[in-house]
Amino acid sequence: MGPGALEKVLTDLPKVEDPRVLVGPETSDDAGVILIDEHRALVQTVDFFSPIVDDCYLFGQIAAANSLSDIYAMGAEPLTALNIACFPTCLTAEEMREIMRGGADKLLEAGAILLGGHTVENPEPKFGMAVTGIIPPEGLWTNRGAKAGDVLLLTKPLGTGVLSTALKAGLLEAEQEAAAVQAMCMLNKAAAQVLRQHATVHACTDVTGFGFLGHLAEMMQDDPIAVTVVAQEIPLLPGALEFAQMGLVPAGAYRNRDHFGHRVSFADSVPMAYQDLMFDPQTSGGLLVAIPEEEASAVLTALSAAKVSARLVARVTGKEPWGKITVVFAE
Ligand code: CO
Ligand code: CO
Ligand code: CO
Repeated sequence: MGPGALEKVLTDLPKVEDPRVLVGPETSDDAGVILIDEHRALVQTVDFFSPIVDDCYLFGQIAAANSLSDIYAMGAEPLTALNIACFPTCLTAEEMREIMRGGADKLLEAGAILLGGHTVENPEPKFGMAVTGIIPPEGLWTNRGAKAGDVLLLTKPLGTGVLSTALKAGLLEAEQEAAAVQAMCMLNKAAAQVLRQHATVHACTDVTGFGFLGHLAEMMQDDPIAVTVVAQEIPLLPGALEFAQMGLVPAGAYRNRDHFGHRVSFADSVPMAYQDLMFDPQTSGGLLVAIPEEEASAVLTALSAAKVSARLVARVTGKEPWGKITVVFAE
């Protein structure tokens, strides 16, 4: 289902007004947040999907890292998780165990506790987690609030959708697959920690199914801001540009362009492959975060010291028209 159809279904749900709800479904944020008492808020998210790599253990890790990411994108720490598994009868017990073990190992790395889960029989395998996090309410980051004078940092390279398409076509080289898998397995934990310590975070989200430009468009939804992106500054996974140039672009990228494209104006010089990669749906993508420009160089240095290869990808201006994203290609 595309982002448009999904939006319609979600807006048809009855609205719940409760002063304890700090983040509800209305703002398309990464997770929902509810106040428990004046010191603590509960952060909840759920995500699961079909295997995108053949290795069961790696798939389990990727699915868990992806599920945990929404907690980090809110500035929170994950506390507990529940497995959600759809397993076909043809999957062996060993394969199921490997998927679960991948997930459990990532939770360990995150410092979160697996409390249980639920498994159903299904023709197509799927795996993921519902994750609960906790945060002092004043530490909460939402996807809204970027200001003129901010810059946007992106903490992982793009291209996992294009590379998965190339993998299915049997065209991906081992090193290209390894780099994509490593990026997808990586937790956004270190990135979030550095941001908490070194940055004044005005807005944050993680880049997943709606692609870089889709999530960026959601970030700027109600704010009087415009954003300029320099296409070459976007970090890309090895092979992503070449495969996008060959047209190995997943259907999700076109759906994202259909839905969010009217918010974006591309300079004529921006090659189509870059445009496609900016709409490419990501699995377990990086954090996209708005911070004041004057903090950027110190934050990038601290991220690099924490082995997070982040890049400054865009600048926020106060110019009209509101909510417009301009993508340029530096000469
Ligand atoms: Co998210
Ligand atoms: Co999510
Ligand atoms: Co059950």
